Amino acid sequence: MHISVIGLGYVGSVTAIALAKAGYDITGIDIDENIVSSFKKGNLPIYEPGLEKLLDEAIKEQKIRFATLEEVDEIGEIVFICVGTPSLQNGSVDLSYIRKSIKWVLERTSGPATIVVKSTVPPGTGKKLIRQYLSNTRLSYISNPEFLREGMAVEDWLHPDRIVIGGEDKESIERIKSLYSSIDAPVVITDITTAEMIKYAANSALAIKISFINEIANLCDILGADIDDVARGLSLDPRIGSGFLRAGLGYGGSCFPKDVRALDFLANSNGYSLELIRSAIIANNRQKFIPVKTLKRRFYDLWNVPVSILGLTFKPNTDDIREAPSIDIMNALLEEGADITAYDPKGIEKIRRIFGERIRYAKSPIEAINGTKAIVLVTEWEEFVRLDWQEAFKRMQEPKIVIDGRNALDYKLLKSIGFEYYGIGRGRR
Ligand code: UDX
Repeated sequence: MHISVIGLGYVGSVTAIALAKAGYDITGIDIDENIVSSFKKGNLPIYEPGLEKLLDEAIKEQKIRFATLEEVDEIGEIVFICVGTPSLQNGSVDLSYIRKSIKWVLERTSGPATIVVKSTVPPGTGKKLIRQYLSNTRLSYISNPEFLREGMAVEDWLHPDRIVIGGEDKESIERIKSLYSSIDAPVVITDITTAEMIKYAANSALAIKISFINEIANLCDILGADIDDVARGLSLDPRIGSGFLRAGLGYGGSCFPKDVRALDFLANSNGYSLELIRSAIIANNRQKFIPVKTLKRRFYDLWNVPVSILGLTFKPNTDDIREAPSIDIMNALLEEGADITAYDPKGIEKIRRIFGERIRYAKSPIEAINGTKAIVLVTEWEEFVRLDWQEAFKRMQEPKIVIDGRNALDYKLLKSIGFEYYGIGRGRR
């Protein structure tokens, strides 16, 4: 069976390569010829651990080819749409790339074929798209949302918690379900709108859980309780569970912020207000500024205070900086006149495109720390945990502050070395 995958970003690249490895005949398609030529050479234009190896194998097995929209000749019986659905200013979702993809399919075939939308689209979108574009064709529509975490996408594809398939006709549903036959996971079969809702409800539930633990952590700092032990106490209750109870500077990335805003907007446009989700958004928006508040409290005037920022990506093991807390933190510190040196194992080039010469960029954590008075750990890359903190201490100027934005560091070690340590909810330390 020949399958096309339109959109070779974080989701599309994993989808195309994983399906090729599962034995299907895949054409990976993108509008950007640079992306396509990179894939043709076996080079991933994104950083996703383990994916480049699978790409090499799929190319060697001749199960995958890549083409731009113009180059494609044969479209396949199944077309996965994995294009971006970014936020618009008002919080709603930009569906223009989805629409362009569907129109591109219609220019090449009226079926029989199945369009599988893996991109995250607001509940109700699929039914609207069918009415607008597919009603007089032999093209069926399936909603097959993804639950891939960046940095873990290959793992999450091969070992998903569940597979969700929303459709209107049994034949299309069964055809798409069969693509996942080699994967051991429960399959939720439902209608299109419900499948779309599962995706938004899942990301909203996770975002709420993160804002919950961050609020509790902030109260721990005020009352002298310890968030690590609180999280452990909560995690032992299976009704609460241990996942997503890591207090920090809040969630970023291309999904949670966008999806909660989109659901809030959709509810509002239908005369309903999602109070809990709205509060989670507000809590998350203020969480990232905790380091700025701490530094202003310690220095009053941050003008020319040398500060190092460790970690720029929205989380470790990715190069993605979309809605990364580091961006708002550095903008706020720059407004106070701080003198910033930043380091990240993967994210520097993307941050440089935003901050240019307004900040300095180090080639190592120690170089970023050298001569500074305060360190803000924003992303919990493993290399920061393993850093030689004795050496870091020697390189800094007084008062040698460490703000551990992800509670990733050994506070006992840092305090014993002499750092003025601040965690998130570790006030008792
Ligand atoms: C998320 C969902 O996990 C995934 O299922 C969905 O398909 C896409 O969105 P992703 O955004 O890649 O995946 O990263 P994830 O690992 O979920 O972390 C999201 C954000 O939450 C990150 O900024 C992370 O730092 C933050 N986070 C996560 C916390 O602050 N605390 C936690 O305990 C967990």
